[in-house]
Amino acid sequence: MSHATTSLLADDGGDIALSAFFDGHPVATFAIDTHHVITHWNHACEQLLGWSRADMIGTANHWQALYARPRPLLADLIMGGPSPELERELEHYYPGKCKRSPLIPGAYEVEEFFPNIGASGHWLHFTAAPLRDGQGRVVGAIETLRDVTERRVAENALRRAHDNLEHVVEKRTGQLAEMNAKLQEDIAQRLLAEAELRRSNLELTELNQQLSRAQQQLLQADKLASIGQLAAGVAHEINNPIGYIFSNFRTLQNYLDQLFGMLDAYQRAEPSLSAPDAAALRAMRERIDLDFLRQDIPTLMAESGEGIVRVRHIVQDLKDFSRVDANQEWVWADLHRGIDSTLNIVSNEVKYKADVIKEYGDIPDIQCLPLQINQVVMNLIVNAAHAIGDARGRITVRTGRDGEHVWLEVGDNGSGIAPDTVSRIFDPFFTTKAIGKGTGLGLSLAYGIVQKHNGSIDVDTALGQGTRFRVRLPISQTAATEDPTP
Ligand SMILES: Nc1ncnc2c1ncn2[C@@H]1O[C@H](COP(=O)(O)OP(=O)(O)OP(=O)(O)O)[C@@H](O)[C@H]1O
Ligand SMILES: [Mg+2]
Repeated sequence: MSHATTSLLADDGGDIALSAFFDGHPVATFAIDTHHVITHWNHACEQLLGWSRADMIGTANHWQALYARPRPLLADLIMGGPSPELERELEHYYPGKCKRSPLIPGAYEVEEFFPNIGASGHWLHFTAAPLRDGQGRVVGAIETLRDVTERRVAENALRRAHDNLEHVVEKRTGQLAEMNAKLQEDIAQRLLAEAELRRSNLELTELNQQLSRAQQQLLQADKLASIGQLAAGVAHEINNPIGYIFSNFRTLQNYLDQLFGMLDAYQRAEPSLSAPDAAALRAMRERIDLDFLRQDIPTLMAESGEGIVRVRHIVQDLKDFSRVDANQEWVWADLHRGIDSTLNIVSNEVKYKADVIKEYGDIPDIQCLPLQINQVVMNLIVNAAHAIGDARGRITVRTGRDGEHVWLEVGDNGSGIAPDTVSRIFDPFFTTKAIGKGTGLGLSLAYGIVQKHNGSIDVDTALGQGTRFRVRLPISQTAATEDPTP
């Protein structure tokens, strides 16, 4: 036996030292010769596998230490060197477990679990390499068996911990995803709710605006109704007396003509009178300055006639303006007539400040609420007059037709409107005028009325140069909308 050992591991006389090294090596190691007979079985091997050297060396029973039935171990298989045959055998005995050693040429490694070693089995990592003599001939094989149970257990524990961790992470990720989805849903719902809130807020604001507009219109309509009633009352009161003044005046004119004729006749007859009578008449004629009277009376009569005609006109305008007879009825009306009567009504406000220039186009009657349109015109003209400063200004009223619409412009060369103000002029109660001078309702009312007529109103202004308002109204309301009634 010792001879075999010597022949395998030391043919140079260093046998004892090498044997001692082999035995003292802490890794379980055994060696076999080419006949598969065990030549070495070190101390660590005895310890690990529980088989003594005495039992093993000189036998080919090394399988006994590991397996229940005889079979070649790794050292037995690899002795012939790498070949396809060997690869097949290795795969047969160690399916999927055997690999070439990365360190030792011609060596192979396997890691396997042996349930029958120790109390609860052991993981062994064994490496087998061919042994060669000085000439390189294979003289046997050596196999080391390292107990890697602790490592494998630690690895397994690590794997289990890892798996567990993965599971936990997966679970947590799932929970997080779920929470995220819920959060997203929450956010979406909140966004929806917010949008809904914004929408209803907007609706409310709009409703509020409509309400305040309606309120102002009501207020203004009320004002308008009382002005209308007042105007109608005054017109009625004046209408009768002016009627008989007018007809009496014409009769008076006739009578005067006749009286002057009579006077002429008397004057012609004067020479045939007695001298004292003629002197008395002459004295009287000179006292009353008959020649002057004959000149002046026709002038006075003409002026009074004009005055009476003007009063009749104003009365007619008042009646037109108030239109109590056609109260709030949609009628076909002549816009120019409305403008004229309105201009007459506001002439006091205008005549000392500006010249009114009328540039009327060729427009048809329009379907409208004339009283309200007059109100729009009046507000624009009064605003224009207010915008004119100390120097005499100019107010231009123009009209024209544009397809199925007519337009009306009121322009002035007054103050103009500041850019930061212009967006607010249609707001109810917005005014730049002194307290008591303006309520700020004129334009908002005009806006409301124009809207009711399915028209539009816009403004063009330059600070210090003037302002022009343009109102566009459909000729026919039935064409503009299905239901023109306010
Ligand atoms: N032609 C204009 N030129 C310059 N500013 C104007 C003109 N028209 C309107 N404005 C400005 O717009 C404001 C609002 O006009 P709006 O007619 O609504 O009210 P107001 O004239 O001030 O008062 P109210 O008409 O109720 O008596 C005016 O105060 C004025 O500042
Ligand atoms: Mg005004």
